[in-house]
Amino acid sequence: MPYCRSSCYYCGCNRIITRNRERGRAYLDRLLVEIALQAELFDRSRPVNQLHFGGGTPTYYTPDELGEIFAALDAGFGMQRGPERDYGIEIDPRTADPKALRALVDLGINRISLGVQDFDAKVQQAVNRIQSVEETERLVVEARSVGIRSINFDLIYGLPHQHVESFDRTLDTVLTLRPDRIAAYSYAHLPELFKSQAVMDAATMPSADTKMALLELTIERLTAAGYVHIGMDHFALPEDELARAQIDGSLQRNFQGYTTHGGCDLVAFGMSSIGQVGEIYAQNEKHEIPYLHAIDERRLPIMRGLVTDADDRLRREVIGQIMCFGRLDYAAFGARHGIDFKDYFAASLARLEQPERDGLVELGANALTITPAGAMLLRIIAIAFDAYLTGDKQAAAAPAKFSRVV
Ligand SMILES: C[S@@+](CC[C@H](N)C(=O)[O-])C[C@H]1O[C@@H](n2cnc3c(N)ncnc32)[C@H](O)[C@@H]1O
Ligand code: SF4
Repeated sequence: MPYCRSSCYYCGCNRIITRNRERGRAYLDRLLVEIALQAELFDRSRPVNQLHFGGGTPTYYTPDELGEIFAALDAGFGMQRGPERDYGIEIDPRTADPKALRALVDLGINRISLGVQDFDAKVQQAVNRIQSVEETERLVVEARSVGIRSINFDLIYGLPHQHVESFDRTLDTVLTLRPDRIAAYSYAHLPELFKSQAVMDAATMPSADTKMALLELTIERLTAAGYVHIGMDHFALPEDELARAQIDGSLQRNFQGYTTHGGCDLVAFGMSSIGQVGEIYAQNEKHEIPYLHAIDERRLPIMRGLVTDADDRLRREVIGQIMCFGRLDYAAFGARHGIDFKDYFAASLARLEQPERDGLVELGANALTITPAGAMLLRIIAIAFDAYLTGDKQAAAAPAKFSRVV
């Protein structure tokens, strides 16, 4: 749901800035058609365990409009009402009315994710996102009172003017509000790709060393306050399902992030969304006009896809295990897949020799184990197993651009 009312300069999401409600409405109408088109391809016996409204800003739409989407999804796929469902929505606290939360709960939403980024006034001004603690707090209080089961905060480290003392104060406020989950993202600076980022003065952005210090501070403060570091950029309270899934071994990672619903098909709707059904990935048109056109011609708006092969799936599982559990037992993995792990992944393991010297990973005789320092830089370890990024395998699509891992 790509629309937002104003531009946060750092933003790397596929978003469209507009206050034109008709433009949003035109897109919504096509989204309803896409849901019906895709529904024809599925039987209705599968439970919809998880639903995620992402953005842009889904709450650009009113609860009534979101209700139209729920009705279309219900007609096409059959929505759940039971407690096992995980239905979430991303909310921009600056534009969301706390009173609307009750309507979202009535639709079936039981998780929310709030964009926070940083509470520091100077940082907020530099990124064009002024958001008071009070408006964020009002939503948190209301969400708890209407029975939202889980609240996530998004934070970003690496933004202009951030430094350890100021981010420490932001973390104080975050911890007072005590969300169930926290995502602390490393700021991805790609101004050639995301034009609004070029508006910010690069000289005001923290150095790589300060960025590492901000990450260390975040991990230190959140774990001291009782949060579990799930891995990468994600933290959760110990009673949260993510933390419990890490302990019982059921945690998985898909490109939505960490999830307790691994192994499900992921059906995606809307501009730029990526679905994963069976062994196939498919991504929708990233731009508005081609997306709208495809739907008007009653075509699925898919722009590219990938049929995974056995090697892709092996690598996906290795990367998933490293990201979820920080440890991989060679013999157990090899036995599950009928391979000699060290032999099959010899080139990947060789790429980890430098990270091992840097203290990020231990390459034991029987297992690979991520160190506490490595847990902050899991991408470096994961990339060693990614045949597309290392150049061992050529993706059909044009080479993508990637941000630095720190
Ligand atoms: C779709 S937005 C969240 C919902 C809503 N639009 C809002 O801003 O409150 C997704 C999240 O991506 C993160 N994000 C956006 N641009 C980023 C960037 N360049 N680097 C790192 N994280 C970024 C922010 O934390 C943001 O909250
Ligand atoms: S951070 Fe959220 S509100 Fe800001 S531009 Fe990006 S998607 Fe829109």
